[in-house]
Amino acid sequence: MPGRRFGREELRQLKEALEQNTLFYKHGKKTALLCEKMSRLVGAGNVVPCSSGSAAIHGAVKACGVGPADEVITAPITDAGTLLGIVYEGAIPVFADVNTDSFNMTPASVEARITPRTRAVIVVHLMGNPADVEGIVAVCRGKGIKVIEDCAQAWGAKMNGRPLGTFGDCGCFSLNDFKHISCGEGGLIVTDDGDLAWRAALSIDKCYDRVRNTRGMEFCAPNYRITELQSAVAIAQLGRLKGLVTKRNALGARLGKGLRKAPGIIPCKVLPGAWPSWWFYMFRIDTGVLGVDADTFIKAVAAEGVPLERYCEPVHYSYKYLVNQSAFNHSKWPFSSAKAVPPYGRGYCPSAEMAYETGVRFKLNHWLGAREIDDTVKAVSKVAACFKSRKSG
Ligand SMILES: Cc1ncc(COP(=O)(O)O)c(C=O)c1O
Repeated sequence: MPGRRFGREELRQLKEALEQNTLFYKHGKKTALLCEKMSRLVGAGNVVPCSSGSAAIHGAVKACGVGPADEVITAPITDAGTLLGIVYEGAIPVFADVNTDSFNMTPASVEARITPRTRAVIVVHLMGNPADVEGIVAVCRGKGIKVIEDCAQAWGAKMNGRPLGTFGDCGCFSLNDFKHISCGEGGLIVTDDGDLAWRAALSIDKCYDRVRNTRGMEFCAPNYRITELQSAVAIAQLGRLKGLVTKRNALGARLGKGLRKAPGIIPCKVLPGAWPSWWFYMFRIDTGVLGVDADTFIKAVAAEGVPLERYCEPVHYSYKYLVNQSAFNHSKWPFSSAKAVPPYGRGYCPSAEMAYETGVRFKLNHWLGAREIDDTVKAVSKVAACFKSRKSG
């Protein structure tokens, strides 16, 4: 990170946590306070704390009743943490293709993948740019399909004024070291559904029931507990959130507006009513207009002093454990017991593949200013104009 992220308030919170003489999340006060603050921030009735964004999604998947041979629809351009809970619960990840210009899954692409086996949809708000979650919820309504929002990259983002994470049955946030705010590692599940929250709380704490005090270990669950130290840092970080996402939103808007005028450049699509918090920013190059691939373009812009990069390859063909059905040792489970295995590999989500091939990532952050954004626009526009004239000339 180019700037300072942790300061006096984090130290003060940590000191208080240590002075409690316990770091257990149910015995100290920090985790409870973190949940209270998060609940107020997003306007959700329940917050379940855990050890990572992946843990949050796994807990949510389990709490939503997903089990062996169920199908869970999600996005092909995402982090490994979106998938692992699906596969660990014995369910089959099914991928909904994306809109090439937003890199997000759409209501139509989700609808096209629904089968009688679909138990849940995990909507990924990539980059902190809201997906059409209202449309996706509408597509799932009345079909018994739960909607989980993966907000790992979408801290503070909103749709029509409402915080992401509150549209579906639950929302999952990451506090890992690379996100808008961080406590090293950590995760939060937000939901208005008390029963779902209870099941999620069991799902991240070895099935120990510290909420209703039931006994008997209803199901098998991992230890994904947060500690008071993580919660202490996260409390301080939450206090910084509004300022930094406001800055990121403004910088992203400036970048998108500037790039609109560059030839052969397709800025990231933002839906009407969406308020992105831009964890990073991706745009696409029109290879037909510019006559070069993304890597060549990135190299040329680097020569102008602006670092750009590619993002992760779509998971449906790049993850060996999907293509080879090798998620667990000595076994092809859960794929071996699935009613149908999706055709993992190239060609399954063509728009995601095209978006990846032509996508360019700019590591936007809140330490940048308008000048750096304008310099980026200038460099990208200059290189694009140069390639375009070379192609047409
Ligand atoms: C979209 C998305 N989902 C889930 C995760 C998993 O979060 P964590 O690294 O905290 O487990 C990440 C983290 O990079 C992510 O970007």
